[in-house]
Amino acid sequence: MHNFETFLQRHLPKAPSFHPYYEDALHSMLQAGGKRFRPALLLGVVNAFNPLLTEGAMHAALAIEMLHTYSLIHDDLPAMDDASLRRGHPTLHVSYDEVTAILAGDALNTYAFEILSNAPFSDNTRVRLIRELSVNGGVTGMVLGQAIDCYFENQPLSVDKIKLLHINKTAKLIAASLKMGAIIAGEEKLEEEIYDFGIKLGLLFQIQDDILDVTQTDDEAGKTTNNDDGKNSFVTVLGLDEAMKEADDLADELTQMMQSFDERLYKELSPLLTNYINRHKG
Ligand code: IPE
Ligand code: IPE
Ligand code: MG
Ligand code: MG
Ligand code: MG
Repeated sequence: MHNFETFLQRHLPKAPSFHPYYEDALHSMLQAGGKRFRPALLLGVVNAFNPLLTEGAMHAALAIEMLHTYSLIHDDLPAMDDASLRRGHPTLHVSYDEVTAILAGDALNTYAFEILSNAPFSDNTRVRLIRELSVNGGVTGMVLGQAIDCYFENQPLSVDKIKLLHINKTAKLIAASLKMGAIIAGEEKLEEEIYDFGIKLGLLFQIQDDILDVTQTDDEAGKTTNNDDGKNSFVTVLGLDEAMKEADDLADELTQMMQSFDERLYKELSPLLTNYINRHKG
């Protein structure tokens, strides 16, 4: 991901002003790192089919990472999960103040679409990418998931409803990362199939995240853990053993699905996917 990090550094939002730390606040969570899972998925799909487009695809990869980073900044706010550590650093409302964290999140959210609007693709492709990111990251995607997640704190939901919650808050953005890769690569027939795979992958990713909340320390995770007690997480509702079993079953299903990928896609994505699909086992 060396290229992605360089691209990110070059495209950090520039906002010089007499505000003492607004610009630093915009940069700090992006520069703090993170696994860059969503960019890796998007770039992997593009690289599998048309490596010449990978450089241009960085715009889309960065846009997703921007929107994802905004979602984390807001997720950590006192009104939401009230977390003090993120990506190995104090959260923005701790380093600065709550107003700054709210506004930095807002700014990264809109900047994501500014980046996409400048991507070096046809107008049609750009509009399709903007639509994919907004549909999956906003009203009917991540934001909906977060709304349900926060509203139903301390009110246990059925497993089916928790799956829907996880699909919205996490899986749709992961599925969109893969689908946006297919859109850029011009692999129209792949779009739906890879999106469906991404929804399952994203569901597994959030179940694993729920497991890590109880099995990792803050230091290990680089973020505040043991923070899901009142949440409808897979672990709080099913218990750790059942959550592990759900994760194992999904991991098996995804490994199976991967076998029918186009050879180029399999070759490009299977090392990354195998790693993530099994991360709860470690
Ligand atoms: C954390 O996402 C929030 C979830 C959707 C589970 P990541 O685990 O991808 O966080 P970073 O980007 O590596 O910090
Ligand atoms: C948040 O899920 C998913 C987002 C949309 C940001 P979590 O609240 O479980 O994420 P972490 O554990 O704080 O990273
Ligand atoms: Mg949360
Ligand atoms: Mg959280
Ligand atoms: Mg979590």
